[in-house]
Amino acid sequence: MFHLVCGIIGFCTLSKTPLAQSPGSVLFKGLKRLEYRGYDSAGVAGVYQGKLIVLKGKGKLDELEEKIRLSSVRGYTVIGHTRWATHGIPNDVNAHPQTDCRNEIAVVHNGIIQNYRELRQFLVERGHVFESDTDTEVIPHLVEEFYREFNDLYTAFKQAIKMLKGSYAIAMVSTIEPDKIFFARKDSPLVIGLGNGYNFVASDIPAFLEYTNRVIIVYDDEIGYITSTNVFLENIGSGVVDWSKRVRVVEWSIEDASKSGYPHYMLKEIMEQPRALRDTLYGLLSDVVVDEAVSILLNSRKVFITAAGTSFHASLYYSLLSSILLGKPVIPFIASEYMVYSPIASSGDTLIVVSQSGETIDSLMALRAFKKKGVRVIAVSNVVDSAIPRESDVALYTRAGPEIGVAATKTFTTQVLLLTFLALKQGSSIGRFSESEYREYIGLLKKVPEFSREVLASTEDIVKELAKWLSRKKSIYYLSRGIGLPIAMEGALKLKEIAYIHAESYPAGESKHGPIALVEKDFPVLFVIPPIDYLEELLLGNIQEMKARGATIICVLSEKSNLIDQCHYPIKTPHTHWLLTPFTHTIPLQLLAYYTAVVKGLDPDKPRNLAKTVTVE
Ligand code: F6R
Repeated sequence: MFHLVCGIIGFCTLSKTPLAQSPGSVLFKGLKRLEYRGYDSAGVAGVYQGKLIVLKGKGKLDELEEKIRLSSVRGYTVIGHTRWATHGIPNDVNAHPQTDCRNEIAVVHNGIIQNYRELRQFLVERGHVFESDTDTEVIPHLVEEFYREFNDLYTAFKQAIKMLKGSYAIAMVSTIEPDKIFFARKDSPLVIGLGNGYNFVASDIPAFLEYTNRVIIVYDDEIGYITSTNVFLENIGSGVVDWSKRVRVVEWSIEDASKSGYPHYMLKEIMEQPRALRDTLYGLLSDVVVDEAVSILLNSRKVFITAAGTSFHASLYYSLLSSILLGKPVIPFIASEYMVYSPIASSGDTLIVVSQSGETIDSLMALRAFKKKGVRVIAVSNVVDSAIPRESDVALYTRAGPEIGVAATKTFTTQVLLLTFLALKQGSSIGRFSESEYREYIGLLKKVPEFSREVLASTEDIVKELAKWLSRKKSIYYLSRGIGLPIAMEGALKLKEIAYIHAESYPAGESKHGPIALVEKDFPVLFVIPPIDYLEELLLGNIQEMKARGATIICVLSEKSNLIDQCHYPIKTPHTHWLLTPFTHTIPLQLLAYYTAVVKGLDPDKPRNLAKTVTVE
């Protein structure tokens, strides 16, 4: 599964290869090839005449090239990085490479070091001085620390890697051994490119595809180094790897490669959800800001939650969870309707604003109107330091990585995960459930990445078949009840926006109050059925009402549901606790929208009339 957070590239070259004529330009071009991954800052490092040169800053590559001439970096061993902020706002200091105290070791990193606080403390106690707010900076300092002890750079690097918990792809250069790039990987992609007199490491193949198509995919828990003529690779537990059997020749174009072999970003992003969910959860588990948000919420009179589009569906889900789990009302509203709600807000209240981009103008306007009333604001975003988090009192982040497809997919499920975690923390703080119940709930959340992986594997084929049938329809209802409703709404929105099929979602019990008039033979009605007995019973009645009018029934439901036989097209998901419904039941709906668009010959990444970030009112 490929990881879209940050981009790494580095290479070692002999002095007589074409790359050696201008290593800085080759590096810069490689970084440009990684631009599609999204980033907010960038930097490079080279070892030249025994010294480390580091150039880095906040901004886009072209701006930085103009300001600090990234491509002027010298040396035959160079690394570069595009950063998508996760720990520490995007600024010059937090940009990578990060260095040690003596400026001898430079590291670029992709992923999240979960235990960086403990490591930082350990290092500060040993006299290390930190400059940035990043989790990454612990790595060069750890290597520095262990180099003092072992006096061998690779041993020190390996020792440092063993201390890390989390996900990472790492590349490191040092003046101590200037002809090597050290690397390590866990749960974050890293590939080696084999050249003639030069070798690359990068987080993705397009970064070096122009120079070589012979690659070795580095696996989890592998570590090693490259020189201009050699590769050393080992598994951190089981020892040296004979990589010669793993060399692959890539025959894709650069464009194909940036989608990691998927035909569209949307599919790639759907498939990335297990990783995105895991990074988000583990990011939250080590984030003290969550406690600040919880304390604000617990001390609030009224709580509002607002957003637009998909983010609104996540918000609606949170408001339902708050009623069910906490017995506390939360008022959800669509951001562009803020003028109806801001008059009833006052200081002592809290507004949660959910926006993956952090820039949606409707949500920003709502935020500003509420701030004027003295309301405290908690932002939930996927883009560190974007406008909405910046203007909020507290910012919580999903760690989905940049989303390039216009339709929100992984940002939705990660938002729901974050908001569920927030509700659980609130519940535990006010004693709504015991310590052991809380631990059980968190244990359930830890299973979300695995469940989402299973759902992806078990539903894709059936959904593909169904898409062929659905692609011929003009209209469909998405019905559900309770916590299933925001999921049905999200499924309908996805289908509408990328497959251009009229999809309407509403509470199943409402059918008989009007919408059922449209139902006739073969009219598609999709039911989202959460694994909750009393909802199943109620939904059974609604399915029968629809069937009696000739509707074709599609259901997304647990593999253990009693309603499977009631559906013409059951999409069965692994059975689990109802709290995981947004993950098990949303993913097949994303796939359904995607494949329906593909069958219709549409480009799901670029639906008509839509933009990724809506900054006009
Ligand atoms: C749907 C979609 C939009 C966004 C909406 C809010 O797939 O992408 O409906 O959800 O424009 O965007 P953010 O979350 O960036 O505020």
